[in-house]
Amino acid sequence: AVERTLSIIKPDAVAKNIIGQIYSRFEQAGLKIIAARMAHLSKREAETFYAVHRGRPFFNDLVEFMISGPVMVQVLEGENAISKNRELMGATDPKKAEKGTIRADFAESIDANAVHGSDAAETAAVEIVCFFPTLDVYSR
Ligand code: CMP
Repeated sequence: AVERTLSIIKPDAVAKNIIGQIYSRFEQAGLKIIAARMAHLSKREAETFYAVHRGRPFFNDLVEFMISGPVMVQVLEGENAISKNRELMGATDPKKAEKGTIRADFAESIDANAVHGSDAAETAAVEIVCFFPTLDVYSR
């Protein structure tokens, strides 16, 4: 089915100037960018976005990292967009990510891991509204 997923290019990848290279991978995989905006998240926004991880030992480091610089946020649309994007990203820990994935090729550590992608349809819906509440999306 055609799905939408939320993608974030994290501060490490924005700082490395590889937004375009990552966008090319989405496009080559048949994922269409139907909404996008750059943002420098506040602490409150990052905590809200990652609320499901509140209480995990890595939560504070994750939030501090996500507010350390600007991020590029986009909605990707396409056939099986959620799982397709997760395949393109590779495992959360870049050391475990398969060769040729975004994280294997561009990420340094489990925190500075270049990209975020929604993990399921329900989270995708919540995450998309979080960044694009007015649904300024352009799917055709
Ligand atoms: P992301 O897909 O953005 O979702 C939560 C993030 O927490 C994850 O990517 C990692 O960057 C970060 N993180 C740090 N440590 C861990 C861990 N042990 N397990 C899962 N995520 C972690």
